[in-house]
Amino acid sequence: MAALQILNVEKRYKSLQALGGVTFSVEPGEFFGLLGPNGAGKTTLISIIAGLSRADAGTVSILGHDVVSDYREARSRLGVVPQELVFDPFFTVRETLRMQSGYFGLRKNDAWIDEVMDNLDLTDKADTNMRALSGGMKRRVLVAQALVHKPPVIVLDEPTAGVDVELRQTLWKFISRLNREGHTIVLTTHYLEEAQALCNRVAMLKAGKVVALDKTSSLIRRISGSQLVVSLARGTLPDALKPLVSHPDELVSGSKYTLRVNEYSDVEPILATLRQSGAVIEDMQLQQADLEDVFIQIMEGEK
Ligand SMILES: Nc1ncnc2c1ncn2[C@@H]1O[C@H](COP(=O)(O)OP(=O)(O)OP(=O)(O)O)[C@@H](O)[C@H]1O
Ligand SMILES: [Mg+2]
Repeated sequence: MAALQILNVEKRYKSLQALGGVTFSVEPGEFFGLLGPNGAGKTTLISIIAGLSRADAGTVSILGHDVVSDYREARSRLGVVPQELVFDPFFTVRETLRMQSGYFGLRKNDAWIDEVMDNLDLTDKADTNMRALSGGMKRRVLVAQALVHKPPVIVLDEPTAGVDVELRQTLWKFISRLNREGHTIVLTTHYLEEAQALCNRVAMLKAGKVVALDKTSSLIRRISGSQLVVSLARGTLPDALKPLVSHPDELVSGSKYTLRVNEYSDVEPILATLRQSGAVIEDMQLQQADLEDVFIQIMEGEK
């Protein structure tokens, strides 16, 4: 049975089709990435998964429990870290986590609350009021809140937005541990290198539709070979090289170009063409394609 099953989900806000028939499922134990540009519909979909918003059509179920007709069972198996920071400012961190536990009917949860706070470096803030926390600290509490009932399925909507490097590492260590222990993770992030490192499979949403759904490694393999990034101190890119540019906006913006190369032997003729055109190379790098390159290609509709 799927940890999360999303079937033909549609959502409309007046004239705007925020979700245009989204279908995918996530298997138990997966670390799954839900990616897409601003406004693609990720948070809309997560609100429907969390039961905060109703789909106009389609169904969502968590471990076999429909999020509408079987809400309580579905919700008890799900932990959601929302994108927006919303709190009652007058409670302390510990009180906030105890209340959340109470919501799930857990009365003696202090041992786990302490462990979660410890893993998120929140222990020394346990008795601080929410309003006195910095933005990054508040986000840690949001993560802790999602985990108080040890949900088998954990959905994180931009958990690392505005978060410093240290917490990102702490957070990923903890989430990866939960994943190893069998929890299913669904992650939304704009940091594609994070998604590449963590997610075994990803879905890409564009304007409310799934435009890619595959193993992370298979998506990256779709872009064959590597890329030669050249910065020109003088001159512009010769016409003969323009078809190799993988990010079309570079043709407009300027002096740095990312060129597709299938084999190392392609590099020599590129350099010769540049030299003959009178261009002067300021900087040059050969790099492997990564998830960000795939994302850009897919979002530009090239593949
Ligand atoms: N309550 C609402 N009323 C009207 N329009 C909405 C509402 N919520 C979202 N939208 C619109 O639906 C679309 C999808 O928004 P959503 O927040 O799901 O995007 P997202 O993929 O989460 O983007 P981001 O990466 O910026 O978080 C956007 O065009 C947004 O303006
Ligand atoms: Mg969002």
